[in-house]
Amino acid sequence: MNRDTVIIVDYGSQVTQLIARRVRESGVYSEIISCKASVDTILQYTPRAIILSGGPSSVYDTDAPRLHTELLELGIPILGICYGMQLLAYSLGGKVVSSLSREYGSSLLTIEKESPLFADIESPAPIWMSHGDEVISLPEGFECIASTENVPIAAIQSRTQPIYAVQFHPEVSHTPIGKKLIDNFLFSICKLTPTWSVAEYSHTLIERCKEQIGNNHVLCALSGGVDSTVVAVLLQKAIGDRLHCFFVDTGLMRSGEGPQIMEYLQEHCDLNVQMIDARAEFLEALRGIEDPEEKRKRIGHLFIELFEKEAERVGDMVTFLAQGTLYPDVIESISEGESAVIKSHHNVGGLPEDMKLALVEPLRELFKDEVRVLGTELGLPDSIVWRHPFPGPGLAIRVIGEVTEERLEIVRMADAIVTEEFISAGLYRSVWQAFAVLLPLKTVGVMGDGRTYEHVIALRVVESVDAMTADWVKLPYPLLEKISSRIISEVVGVNRVVYDISSKPPSTIEWE
Ligand code: XMP
Repeated sequence: MNRDTVIIVDYGSQVTQLIARRVRESGVYSEIISCKASVDTILQYTPRAIILSGGPSSVYDTDAPRLHTELLELGIPILGICYGMQLLAYSLGGKVVSSLSREYGSSLLTIEKESPLFADIESPAPIWMSHGDEVISLPEGFECIASTENVPIAAIQSRTQPIYAVQFHPEVSHTPIGKKLIDNFLFSICKLTPTWSVAEYSHTLIERCKEQIGNNHVLCALSGGVDSTVVAVLLQKAIGDRLHCFFVDTGLMRSGEGPQIMEYLQEHCDLNVQMIDARAEFLEALRGIEDPEEKRKRIGHLFIELFEKEAERVGDMVTFLAQGTLYPDVIESISEGESAVIKSHHNVGGLPEDMKLALVEPLRELFKDEVRVLGTELGLPDSIVWRHPFPGPGLAIRVIGEVTEERLEIVRMADAIVTEEFISAGLYRSVWQAFAVLLPLKTVGVMGDGRTYEHVIALRVVESVDAMTADWVKLPYPLLEKISSRIISEVVGVNRVVYDISSKPPSTIEWE
């Protein structure tokens, strides 16, 4: 691929992905490569710059990931971050020690020496540190360019080569000068041109799909979410009616979701979509089941069965299966455990292993926010592009305890009210997820002159960047009040609403 690429070597930091995002936000394409990758693999990308990420190791650990020092001799500009800096210094003969106290959090950076890395950055500047080790003596040919109160050598540069390193994390939002520093590296030091954008990339993606698929046919399962919808629209542009989409109405979707997506795709995108009404089958599979994992298992199995039937129906001409795999999933599978994975995504079932279909995964180089930009670029409406993430097993895991049609309807109606109120308060896009959960208990209330004994709805609203961690949102009382009173007066069978004030961890986002 002929474009300027920055390679980020992943040493296992929890924020490695952020480095890739920052570089892309600055208009330069970047990829994350495991630190176990060979020099040849890295060079296949013909990188215009290399960034060494942070990581949890200490350079003195016996099994600590190492640096391919050959990379330093190629004249490719290098930026080391945190562990990346320690590794650079150590590999070139400097000294690294364990800091007396592990430093975690904000600190003030004082620039000690003029450097292109700090061009137009004022000193002192707040930065964010997270490290256990630090460099205490420099390798030959290097000089210290910045310090903090606790860390005398907080940034270094080579006097002869384009090699730079910082002990702090420029990629996190708590380092306000981070963007400028990364831009200085990309544009002043590496002389790159900011030409990459999702919009420009969409043409490349369509061309690539055409090339990969040739004259073959593709099967695509739509979930109603933004990822699979973007995949379908992209493929439709690439191969037209050789794309065969199907959408399973599980009866576990949010209010109006199925028809809305179907209508959009058929009428606006001219997509060939088969709707499979499996509501009764899903209800039957879930009858009497209370255990959340058992619910997931049964839903997964049924989905696979339906999928296989559909694959059989469209027949032998289909040789590809489209999937909405995103970049974070790809990184997790290639970095072989280098970034400690806390992933809790449990997609609906796995697809059958013996399925003889090759995969088309057009989004595998994109982050979620980039997929949204791409969706807009492809003309999808905001109501699809900005839809909150929704679990594969759907409302089945938001009805705590047994799933019945009546209980699904209660949670679906409550959920629709939550969504409506968030949209009208202008807060829908600013939270990660906002939804209703039906609890498996009844409580006493009073309506009019009568006693009621009815269901409880829990309201769950979280902010998050990737669902790995999440905070409950401190919502304005008037919004809470409106949602509560609407649910109690409009959803028959509910007489109480409670608000979930737990963060993840230790709780999870969903209740099951
Ligand atoms: P938790 O509840 O684990 O959720 O904090 C993290 C994110 O994943 C979604 N989620 C699921 N997605 N199948 C999915 O495809 C599932 O079984 C599932 N369970 C949770 C959840 O909505 C949140 O965004």
